[in-house]
Amino acid sequence: MIERTLVLIKPDGVQRGLVGEITQRFEKVGLKIIGMRMVWVDKEFSKEHYKAHVEKEFYPGLEAMITEGPVVALAVEGIHAVTQVRKMVGDTEPKIAQPGTIRGDYTHHSYESTSGAGKAIRNVVHASGNNKEAEAEIELWFKKEELHSYKTAQEVHTF
Ligand code: CDP
Ligand code: MG
Repeated sequence: MIERTLVLIKPDGVQRGLVGEITQRFEKVGLKIIGMRMVWVDKEFSKEHYKAHVEKEFYPGLEAMITEGPVVALAVEGIHAVTQVRKMVGDTEPKIAQPGTIRGDYTHHSYESTSGAGKAIRNVVHASGNNKEAEAEIELWFKKEELHSYKTAQEVHTF
């Protein structure tokens, strides 16, 4: 039941100054941040992270977007963390992402608005899509010693 998942605040999220607000959403629901890094990834790393998409027509735009500036990587732990975080992140296409989700609250682009221009959808965050992806992505982004086991206040105290 206790799962770990990877969240990236993508370059557009960092550039817009949303690191604190986005991180806080996960903290507020009681998920635990167990790892945090700021990284400016290169094309090779992008191809590894997005290996499922490398052959797709939108990949060149996606690679340009994810390598255009630093990202903040969060390793997030909690009950059903993978599906919980995906729920909070919302649909891939901002146009249909529900209000209340991160993508629904901070973005509004559509596939129609970007694909013709060879650009990626700028949807401020990435989150692992399933448990297998989460395991591989945490391993790719974090060394073992960068992931921390500690107790939250709720775990230590009874409020
Ligand atoms: O990020 P998510 O798992 O929701 O979607 P994905 O299908 O794994 O695609 C990864 C990322 O590629 C998306 O978040 C978009 O930034 C980008 N993308 C795009 O620009 N155009 C598409 N038609 C599909 C994805
Ligand atoms: Mg995905």
